[in-house]
Amino acid sequence: MCGIVGYLGKRQAAPVLIDGLYALEYRGYDSVGIALSDGSTLKIIKKIGRVKEIESARAERGMVGIGHTRWATHGDVTAENAHPHTFRGITLVHNGIIENAEKLKKQCIEEGETFASETDSEVIAHLIAAEYRGDLLDAVRRGCARLVGSYALAVLCEGEPDTVVCARMRSPLIVGKAKDGLVVASDIPAVAEKDASLYSLEDGDFARLKGDEIEIFNAAGEKTLRERMEFDLEDGAADRRGYRHFMRKEIDDIPEVLRASKEEIDRSFCNLDLYRVLCQTEYIQVVACGTAYHSGLCFQAALERVCRIPVEVDIASEYRYMDPIVRRGTLLIAVSQSGETADTLAAVRLAKRRGAFVIAVVNVKYSSLARLADAVLYTRAGREVAVAATKSFNAQLMALYSIVEAFAAVKGRRVPTLSHIERRAARTIAAAEGVRGWVPYFVGAKSVYFIGRGVDMCTALEGSLKLKEISYLPSEGYAAGELKHGTLALIEPFTPVVAILTRRDIAEKTMNAVHEAYARGASIFLVTCFEEFCTEKEIASSVLIPKCPSDFSPILSVIPLQLLAYYVSIARGNDPDKPRNLAKSVTVE
Ligand code: M6R
Repeated sequence: MCGIVGYLGKRQAAPVLIDGLYALEYRGYDSVGIALSDGSTLKIIKKIGRVKEIESARAERGMVGIGHTRWATHGDVTAENAHPHTFRGITLVHNGIIENAEKLKKQCIEEGETFASETDSEVIAHLIAAEYRGDLLDAVRRGCARLVGSYALAVLCEGEPDTVVCARMRSPLIVGKAKDGLVVASDIPAVAEKDASLYSLEDGDFARLKGDEIEIFNAAGEKTLRERMEFDLEDGAADRRGYRHFMRKEIDDIPEVLRASKEEIDRSFCNLDLYRVLCQTEYIQVVACGTAYHSGLCFQAALERVCRIPVEVDIASEYRYMDPIVRRGTLLIAVSQSGETADTLAAVRLAKRRGAFVIAVVNVKYSSLARLADAVLYTRAGREVAVAATKSFNAQLMALYSIVEAFAAVKGRRVPTLSHIERRAARTIAAAEGVRGWVPYFVGAKSVYFIGRGVDMCTALEGSLKLKEISYLPSEGYAAGELKHGTLALIEPFTPVVAILTRRDIAEKTMNAVHEAYARGASIFLVTCFEEFCTEKEIASSVLIPKCPSDFSPILSVIPLQLLAYYVSIARGNDPDKPRNLAKSVTVE
């Protein structure tokens, strides 16, 4: 997390940096800062809070600059800890985590140096300053050689005011030529403009931006070229299209996202030679984090029932430390919206070292995951700005269910089809608006429970995560049958319980849990495709969603839960697009 941007050219840098930082705010919004050089003096402006806090700096002069929007890892949210950091003429912005920062800091302090912040990043400026002998690129290379961890860096130097030097190690960074200048950024939307040529650095790369030339050097110090990135300005556009919040717009995007994703995935299947991969697959592992992990659970539930193939689904941050067994014939599916989640990337690297074939289900082109995987299935969710994932989850399900269909074809099994799913999604959104009436029951709740069985439990987990992250209400997703084994003790009069019920064969079993919770005073809300349950006396209110093959039902049944979280968040006075303490892309471990 954290977003970095840099510019040098013929324009004033401040507006370019500030606009770029707005586009990177999804990476963190604890504090913000820029450094500007006019060739003789360097000015640093940094503030706690969001990019708008430095709007007044637009008028500042200087044609070279770097900027940063922070998601705090080391050190509180203070102006001192905001980037850029500076030491003896070296000024830098950093995204990543320096794991040996404390040790390095101690060595610097023993040499009499002092630190202005509590961050791990400041020490990088000290190391580079110590190495500087008139060549910034060389100093950055030498300084970085002492770092353990991840970094994307943009560095300015008093001695070379016309130069920006960049470095990348396990944190994304792109460099490029834009109108009248050179740019560096964590992500395309920060610097994309018509006719810009952008290049993604590889791990271990350094780049020097000077005059109108970009030089890229690989880890061995050899001058190198990187592939030019194609991008669509529309994809990068962060346009609320008149909606009050991105999240609400992104939920309304779901039908079109499902259609576009299906089209894209069908096309990829033709090119992928997926059939051969699936034929050779004996074991399947899925790694992902957060919402993407929940899509993996939904995939497991569907694939195991439809194709009778066992699937292991792991939280990526656990997978990498559990010494996973990767047998011959293992297909590892890594799911990620951003393609930059550090834990997922680390899990993939490990699985690859152990011999797995990796398919990435990912939304962002040129992302680290897309480049690391052996094959890619792109979802077409478009840019998702709200921190809480919504449409990207539905798109992931579309991709994963397409894999289920492909496996079913390989295994000669009959599979239910997801025909006209976009129309059904649109009808679900319309029906789900009814959750607005549920809000008063949730807004002051001490805790909330989402329950379901089988695939509905996976949806429950996602519904709960959504509510937690944007409403800040304690909430749990739970197996309906497990409630009575402990959690039922937490049910008090009026505790909201949301039951998800999309499998007819086990509906009565889920209803047992509903009766048990109701008997203890819970207020019960239902998301179901079976009308007969909506009128049961226990149900305070329900959303009736269109019928869909039950193994694939989360693609619809999650929508009312996404909307519920959204409306509860607003009722509690929160910003659903930018929940506290979180960032959209989690590029640190
Ligand atoms: O970009 P990714 O899909 O890899 O991100 C994984 C999680 O960080 C993400 O899904 C997170 O849980 C969302 N904020 C949930 O809404």
